[in-house]
Amino acid sequence: SSPLRLGIAGLGTVGIGVVKIVQKHADLLGKRSGREITITAVSARDQRKNRDADLSSYRWESDPMAVATADDVDVYVELIGGDSGIAKDSIEAALRSGKDVITANKALLATHGQELAELSESLGRLIRFEAAVAGGIPIIKAMTEAMAGNSVNRVMGVMNGTCNYILTRMESAGLPYEAVFEEARQLGYLEADPTLDVGGIDASHKLAILSSIAFGTQVNFNAVEIEGIERVSIDDIRRAADMGYRIKLLGVAQMTARGLEQRMSPCLVPADSPLGQLAGGTNMVVVEGDSVGQIVLRGAGAGEGPTASAVISDIVDVARGVRLPMFGQPAGTLTPAKAARTAVP
Ligand code: NAP
Ligand code: HSE
Repeated sequence: SSPLRLGIAGLGTVGIGVVKIVQKHADLLGKRSGREITITAVSARDQRKNRDADLSSYRWESDPMAVATADDVDVYVELIGGDSGIAKDSIEAALRSGKDVITANKALLATHGQELAELSESLGRLIRFEAAVAGGIPIIKAMTEAMAGNSVNRVMGVMNGTCNYILTRMESAGLPYEAVFEEARQLGYLEADPTLDVGGIDASHKLAILSSIAFGTQVNFNAVEIEGIERVSIDDIRRAADMGYRIKLLGVAQMTARGLEQRMSPCLVPADSPLGQLAGGTNMVVVEGDSVGQIVLRGAGAGEGPTASAVISDIVDVARGVRLPMFGQPAGTLTPAKAARTAVP
């Protein structure tokens, strides 16, 4: 069969990670997909930047729109980021040009997910986003595919690698917030705007996306009660440790009689519990289904390799012809969720 031709916009941490895996595992991906996977065109802001990958055989486009609408691209891979602007415009253009879309952009999906799901369905196209939640952890596939026979009671977890890294390192190394923040930057964990990380907003984007899948509701990021980690001091961390606890930025979503409750806040967890033991940039997501019981997924939630690994899993699915609705059910069947306002603990 014909090759699946990718156009990649955004050649930062994740985009370059995807290029490297496509190059390194060309044979493996071809066998697993049943067809060759190639890159046709790429785009980023600065063509002269040294990117630690050989891009010489791909057409360079200075405008992501040219990649999104190119005749020789089958799948548009959006790895630019941002909840609006060129990321959103180029995804819409790609869908309208008859292309499937793969993205890691949780900010965009949390704020415009419903609209994009409706557009993609109306055009008979796909949007896949495994990398958007918890990096390398296959939580979207677990919930939309493996847990299809469950009504979900609750979804919770640690969903931001930067915050988990900062809180963990502050305790283990006794280092101040600023030094640990810089380490997280070096590891490629940070969003372009790091206040999204430490303010709990990035984790809340992910929680809102998971809530939609878990409860069959339209994504409602604005209803998440959010408190970030900026006000957690080294003294708070030491006091918690003295009592046998650790502080984690924990997200919880559950359907209550009053509606959908979504909370993201620093919480005390027992130091010897699986959540308390969660290391550095690692994420953990816990889903409770009525048939399967509790499922716990843990793994690298950010960084080049793990996030690119999740993007590649979507690429292989598209190449195999897997065509699932975006949030596990058609966008038109997702119900608007009444928000249950709760006090942040
Ligand atoms: P990044 O390192 O900041 O890379 C962004 C890329 O987009 C850069 O190559 C940049 O070009 C390009 N870009 C920005 N504005 C552009 C424009 N107007 N036109 C063309 N190209 C433009 O970001 P990242 O960490 O790879 O993240 C990409 C996406 O993945 C985001 O949605 C992010 O939330 C998501 N994500 C990231 C991680 C992670 O661990 N990093 C994990 C999960 C999801 P230049 O290189 O020329 O500046
Ligand atoms: N900035 C995000 C994090 C990247 O630290 O978890 C992965 O979504």
